[in-house]
Amino acid sequence: MANVVVVGAQWGDEGKGKIVDWLSERADVIARFQGGHNAGHTLVIDGEVFKLSLLPSGIVRGGKLSVIGNGVVLDPWHLKKEIEGLRSQGVTITPETLMIAENAPLILPIHGELDRVREAQASVAKIGTTGRGIGPAYEDKVGRRSVRVADLADDATLELRVDRALVHHDALRRGLGLEPVDRDALLADLRAIAPSVLEYAAPVWKVLNEQRRAGKRILFEGAQGALLDIDFGTYPFVTSSNVIAGQAATGTGIGPGSIDFVLGIVKAYTTRVGEGPFPAELHDDDGQRLGERGHEFGTVTGRKRRCGWFDAVLVRQTCATSGVNGIALTKLDVLDGFETLKICVGYELDGTRLDYLPIAADQQARCTPVFEEMPGWSQSTEGARSWADLPAEAIKYVRRVEELIDCPVALLSTSPEREDTILVTDPFAD
Ligand code: IMP
Repeated sequence: MANVVVVGAQWGDEGKGKIVDWLSERADVIARFQGGHNAGHTLVIDGEVFKLSLLPSGIVRGGKLSVIGNGVVLDPWHLKKEIEGLRSQGVTITPETLMIAENAPLILPIHGELDRVREAQASVAKIGTTGRGIGPAYEDKVGRRSVRVADLADDATLELRVDRALVHHDALRRGLGLEPVDRDALLADLRAIAPSVLEYAAPVWKVLNEQRRAGKRILFEGAQGALLDIDFGTYPFVTSSNVIAGQAATGTGIGPGSIDFVLGIVKAYTTRVGEGPFPAELHDDDGQRLGERGHEFGTVTGRKRRCGWFDAVLVRQTCATSGVNGIALTKLDVLDGFETLKICVGYELDGTRLDYLPIAADQQARCTPVFEEMPGWSQSTEGARSWADLPAEAIKYVRRVEELIDCPVALLSTSPEREDTILVTDPFAD
């Protein structure tokens, strides 16, 4: 049986929600392995809209096990709210259908506050974070001062963990001109929320390994995109977790050998939310048109996304770092009606042609895109369900993308509707 990892292969917002939902129907277990409630997935099922940011997409489908792995940072108050919201839409969530890793670190209110205060400081370059405390929570994880899910079960441990975190945070807050943390209030809040989290706490690594041995199909659902990866992204304008496919193993406790297929989600053009380099960005009417046609506004923050042509250099790079076996190409229909399309096929840096994005920030800033032009198509590709429904120019565009990124198209998505999908290779096939 195959286990599939889904990762965003650009800067997030590639349309993972629909693809993950499409795949989750065929999976037994759906696991999140990084990020937190900074993600935003919109699922449309039988006309009903479900908005998820922390829970795995499988949660809205009956009969599946949804898992939040140790690689995720978990805001317990947000968890409660998201569960209650879904329940009010008729979704059943029980400890049998949702399991949360006991070793997942918590996002505390002080993390969100710190995130927002830092972003508001004019003296340092803004990252453009979602302000949800993701970065500070991961800092505490590697700083060995997190409160983790299991700590909520024992009051003495909880106090120890909070005190350890506050030694650091109070010193930091003093430097930022913030009041010290109200320790007793924080402890009281944690004690009050504890049962809502502990109900779902489980040794996730064990459960997943048992499920794998029993021949169940596991879908690992990535959030954000590989260009926001803490190691391989456009640092420091990145999120604070590893986003690439290897994280599916460390973020859940399953061996890397258990991953059979990596599906990279790729939008037919490029978008980015927040600050940071974006070589193929457009500041003209074409960019405006991509944003409008593609409804490019953030699900979590409502921010307008920056838009640009397809950057084959970056996607080739992310397909390599995630070991992508096939891509799902989304939102091809947004390109309908452009007379000419451009694809970024390289960069020019100080007179030299590069086939990858260099790491050094000053070099990234000086890279100018080298574009290849292709004829567009006037017909609509929206809702196409087979290659025969696509204009010849659209097929040529897709084939050129495959060639340039060194990776085949496994799925083609032509509208937000789940049926509007062209399947080339089934990621779950044995
Ligand atoms: P953080 O994850 O809130 O720390 O934000 C860091 C960067 O990642 C910012 O540029 C955010 O806009 C970006 N980011 C975080 N989550 C998402 C997402 O789900 N989609 C797109 N960008 C995201």
